[in-house]
Amino acid sequence: MTRICVVGGGGYVGLGYAVALAELGHDVVGLDIAAGRVALLNQGTSPIYEVGLPEMLRRNLDAARLRFTTDYAEAVPGSDLVFLCTGTPSLSDGEADLRQVRSAAASIGMHLVPGTRTIIVNKSTMPVGTADLVAGIVAEYAPEGARFAVISNPEFLREGRVLHDILRPDRVVLGGDDEEALEIVAELYGPLQAPILRTDHRSAELIKYAANAFLATKISFINDIARLCERLGADVTDVAEGIGADERIGPRFLHAGIGFGGSCFPKDVGALTRMAEGAGLHPGLLRAVMEINRDAQRRFVARADELLAGLDRRVIAIWGLAFKEGTDDLRESPAVAIAEMLMERGAIARAHDPAARENAARRLPRVILCDSPVEAATGADAVMLCTPWPEYRDLDFTEVARSMSGDIILDGRNLLDASHVAAAGLRYEGIGKGADRARAADAASPQVARGA
Ligand code: UDX
Repeated sequence: MTRICVVGGGGYVGLGYAVALAELGHDVVGLDIAAGRVALLNQGTSPIYEVGLPEMLRRNLDAARLRFTTDYAEAVPGSDLVFLCTGTPSLSDGEADLRQVRSAAASIGMHLVPGTRTIIVNKSTMPVGTADLVAGIVAEYAPEGARFAVISNPEFLREGRVLHDILRPDRVVLGGDDEEALEIVAELYGPLQAPILRTDHRSAELIKYAANAFLATKISFINDIARLCERLGADVTDVAEGIGADERIGPRFLHAGIGFGGSCFPKDVGALTRMAEGAGLHPGLLRAVMEINRDAQRRFVARADELLAGLDRRVIAIWGLAFKEGTDDLRESPAVAIAEMLMERGAIARAHDPAARENAARRLPRVILCDSPVEAATGADAVMLCTPWPEYRDLDFTEVARSMSGDIILDGRNLLDASHVAAAGLRYEGIGKGADRARAADAASPQVARGA
């Protein structure tokens, strides 16, 4: 049993670790400056939505292995390990904002106890070189005789799967030069039976950014191929399956659509781009990844504009607002960008999302929020599916068709069964479905299409 303090213990990453480390049998105190969150958590209520979290939170509070506080003086002294899990949001130029990290490092330093040794485990996603910055700030504030080591230990958690990803990681990355501290942290992860990669601080920090940038690149790659498919009459789903079957490529993150969003990919690709520029490089690939992503959303709106011969006063139903299925998170959601672009062009946006309604009421006050996808489609000239919630696949499309005033279904995630939609008399269009478009053109005008 190790005594662990998790700084930022009320956020996605920190709360996940606080709860999971308690579940592994450690004595954990979650520290967060948000008093409201801390009060809720101590009562067993999770302020964020994560699979399995409410049960695991309550179980560990009841077993007295877990508690939450706002007070560094209560949490840091007596802890063997301090997990640093504060957020690193983006500044307006894409650079990571380190204010929370700096202030947490100072507070940790101030509360270290002379004669003890504390290991600071850095989970926050921070630009390469920040571990040294954290160590410097802690040293500046630490009382004489308090010893400490910093270990870089990036997380690779997906929203909605935080506990799963903590307890069953593909790998654990540990960066640092203090062998004893590295060994202690490696032992902590021992029960998870994951491969452990030991490296230096800078490589560990870069692994986090490079992993997210690579996944984002895979998505932008397939979205670029989707554009080509539309021009050349090919089907991107088949192309993705064909390339993904190659073991060296793999099938995941090759799902074409309106692009990636969320709190990590856009922020981390942006921060890596800034790091590369700061190092005197020209990160052409990273810039293209972001450009293709923005373009995917612009093209989706342009296609609706084209099919409806203008968007002014058109009624558009948006299905799904969250940045991905299974979450209520709207941060950097492609659906939000699309809703805004539609409204800027005069369209009336009606929307449905199974989880994000409350957040959407705040974020998109001009969007008419509906209780069901059919209600959203009522009177709509077109439906634009933006988030791949599985329930949209099983809708009664005859009912959808009856409620709409137009007949266009634009599937921004290639989720729906095209034949199912077409059977209801609706006109279906997915992303990168050039083969369908070629067939449709062929049917409409056989000589021209064949001659083209
Ligand atoms: C991501 C990383 O997966 C995780 O390892 C990291 O720690 C944080 O960022 P998350 O933001 O939760 O996790 O979302 P993820 O499930 O990876 O999806 C990101 C976005 O990419 C979503 O908008 C999703 O819809 C989109 N996506 C994903 C695609 O457009 N196509 C795909 O093939 C996969």
